[in-house]
Order: sequence, then C-alpha cells, then structure tokens
Amino acid sequence: MPNVAVVGTQWGDEGKGKIVDLYTEGADVIARFQGGNNAGHTLVVKGRKTVLHLIPSGILHDNKICIIGNGVVVDPVVFIQEIEELQKGGLFPPNTKLYISEKAHLIMPYHKLLDVAREASSTGKKIGTTGRGIGPAYEDKVARTGIRVCDLYDETRLLEKLRRSLTEKNFLLTGLYSRTPLTADEIAAEYLDYAQKIKPYVADTSMIIDNAMKSGKKILFEGAQGAHLDIDHGTYPYVTSSNTVAGNAACGSGIGPNAINNVVGICKAYTTRVGEGPFPTELTDEIGQQIQRVGQEFGATTGRPRRCGWLDMVLIRQAVRTSGITALAITKMDVLTGLDIIKICVGYKSDSGELTHAVPANIDLLTQYQPVYEELAGWKEDILQARNIADLPANARKYVQRLEELSGARINLVSVGPGREETIILHDPFRD
Ligand code: IMP
Repeated sequence: MPNVAVVGTQWGDEGKGKIVDLYTEGADVIARFQGGNNAGHTLVVKGRKTVLHLIPSGILHDNKICIIGNGVVVDPVVFIQEIEELQKGGLFPPNTKLYISEKAHLIMPYHKLLDVAREASSTGKKIGTTGRGIGPAYEDKVARTGIRVCDLYDETRLLEKLRRSLTEKNFLLTGLYSRTPLTADEIAAEYLDYAQKIKPYVADTSMIIDNAMKSGKKILFEGAQGAHLDIDHGTYPYVTSSNTVAGNAACGSGIGPNAINNVVGICKAYTTRVGEGPFPTELTDEIGQQIQRVGQEFGATTGRPRRCGWLDMVLIRQAVRTSGITALAITKMDVLTGLDIIKICVGYKSDSGELTHAVPANIDLLTQYQPVYEELAGWKEDILQARNIADLPANARKYVQRLEELSGARINLVSVGPGREETIILHDPFRD
C-alpha cells in the first residue's frame, strides 16, 4: 500500500489544504510532522468557514485517524480552541480519531513573547515570523530545555523544568526586551489545566502509525510551509524553524523513510511569499497586484498580503531534488486566466552575466540575481469547468506541459478553482 507525503515546493501557501483534503478521501491516517500553528488552511464545510492551523484538515472526514506527530510544536491553547470550534460546528465526525504525540514539544507563553519581542526589536533582523512562538519553541527543543506533552503529566518535573527555563527567559524578557517577567507557578497552573483537556488525545503516535501500516492502512503525511522555508534547504535565515522537506515526514512522525512511497509537491502556478526574504521573480507592478487580487493572496494565519510573482522553476527543481518529489500538483491555474503573456523563470543571471540554475546558499547573491524568463502566450477562456486536460485551452495545456518538462516530475493534478470538483486529476498517488 503506498503512503504519500504532500509538501510545498515554494514558500508555503501553495494550496496544500485543498489537495490534502482531496487525497484524504483515499487515506486512512493523516499525519502532520512539522511546524505548528504558523500554518493555516481555510476550509468551507457545510457553508461554514473554518480555519485550522494545527489539527490536520483530515479531521473533517469521517472514519479517519488524524495525528499531530512528534515533530510538530504544539500550542495547547490553539489545540483546545480548534477542537472546541470543530465540536461547536458539528465538524468532528463521530468515527474520526485525533491523537497528539506525547513527544511533541509545547509552545509556552515565553516562546510567543520572545518571538514577538525579537521581531519588534530595533536591533534585530526581521524575519517576518507569524509571531506564534514557533522558532523559540524549536530552539528550546534543540537546546534540550523544551517542555514536551508528556511533561504535563508530572507536576514536579514540569515545575522544575519551568523554573530552570524561566531563569534564562526572564533575563531576556526583562533585560533585553523590557517585558514583565513570568512565574513558573502561574504557567504551571495554566498548563496543568490544559493537560487535563488534552489528555484523551495524547498517545504514542509513532506506534499508532506503525500499527496502521502493518494492517494495510494508507498514510498521508501532511507537510506545512514549503521547501524554501526549510531550515536547512530554504533561503536562510528567512525560513521557518523546522525541516519542511519530505524526509522530515519520517523523523517528525516516528516511522522509517522507506514507509514513504510517493511524494507529491504542491506547486502554485505562480509564486508567493509572506514575510521578509529574497524573491527573484517578485512582481511589484499591476500584474503582481492582479495576481494578488484574483488569487486572494492574503495569509490565512496573519492576514498579511502575500508578495506575488512569476513561477520560478529554479526553486521548483530544487524542491523536487531535496524532497524526492515523484509528482507535482499544480494549483490555482485559474488565477492566470486573462494574462496576455505568462513568464516562467528558468534560470538566474548574476551581475557578471553568468547564468546559473541553482539557488545559491548565500542569499545576498540571490538578491542580486536577475531572473531569466521564458515567455508563453496566455489564455482568455474560463477554465473553471475543465475536468480533463483536453478541456484546457491549448495555451494552458502548453503551460502545464512546460512545467512538467522543466521540473522533471510528472504532473498528477491541475487545480482550476477552489472547489473540490474544480480539479483535473491525472494520477492517484495512492495507486501509481
Ligand atoms: P515562523 O514560522 O512563524 O517562525 O515564520 C518564519 C517565516 O516563515 C516567515 O517568513 C513566515 O511568514 C513564514 N511562514 C511560516 N508559516 C508559513 C505558512 O504556513 N505559509 C507561508 N509562510 C509561512
């Protein structure tokens, strides 16, 4: 039985939510393996708009097992809020199970304060984070001072860990950022209350996934953010604090790499980016504004407008390589309808005129590079009704074909509108 990982190939916001929702139909277990509530999927179900930041969107389907893996950083406040929201809306199906790894690290109040304080500091370099405490929580994980879900069920240990952490955090909060200090007792009281609320969901999720695989169930690993926000392979330091590439689906959910058979890369038909950082194909003109308006490119988590630009195949090719992408899903094709000319970046030119096809490790160089474009004729016909590749206008078909050639990965799917049915499906990753 093939298991599938779905990852973003750009800077996040590629439209993974819709594709994960589609693939969930064919899966039994849906597992998140990295990131936290910096992600965001807007879902419209039963006419009600629901935004999920932490819980996998598979939760909306009956008879599924949804997992928040050990690699995710969990804000218990958000976890509880999302469960309550879902229950209130009658959106938590009776036969669907939700589990959270006992090894997942918790986002603590000081993580959120430090994230926001650092970004606001006049001396610090702004990353444009989502301000949800994601980076500081991962820092503590690596520094071996993090607090994990399992720590919530040992009060003495929790208090001891909190006191140790606060010695340093309060020093930073008061001394460097002029904030008020926090007390271990107050945080412990708050988190012990959360502990009771989340207890029914806490489990050894690695074991649950393993058992599911042994009984022939199909697993969908749901990535968050995108390849170029990866802590190792992204445009460092303008990245998130976890590995977003598909390899982390194994580490972040406690299974071996050979359990992942297919990797689907989600590739928006153009590029967007939220927050700071280099963006070679960014459009600051009317076309960029049109793409932003038509594509409703505003962040689901922070509401910030997304920067928009042409599709950059240098980025996509790197994502294919670093995630072992076996197929691409092209999203938001309809947003390009009406443009006379559509450009695809196929390489970069340096100041000295040298041509490169790689993203440089030193992002100062990337800022100086000029994109080299191939130009394709656009299409005017509405493509919302297209359900087969043959239904697309010839120029839209040429665009898809060119993406396949340039990426070296076959195209599995083309999304032509926000609705589930507004999709051209070419291959099912659970079958081939
Ligand atoms: P952090 O993940 O909040 O630390 O933010 C680090 C960078 O990643 C910032 O540029 C954010 O805008 C970006 N980022 C984090 N999560 C997402 C996402 O889900 N979509 C797009 N960008 C994101």
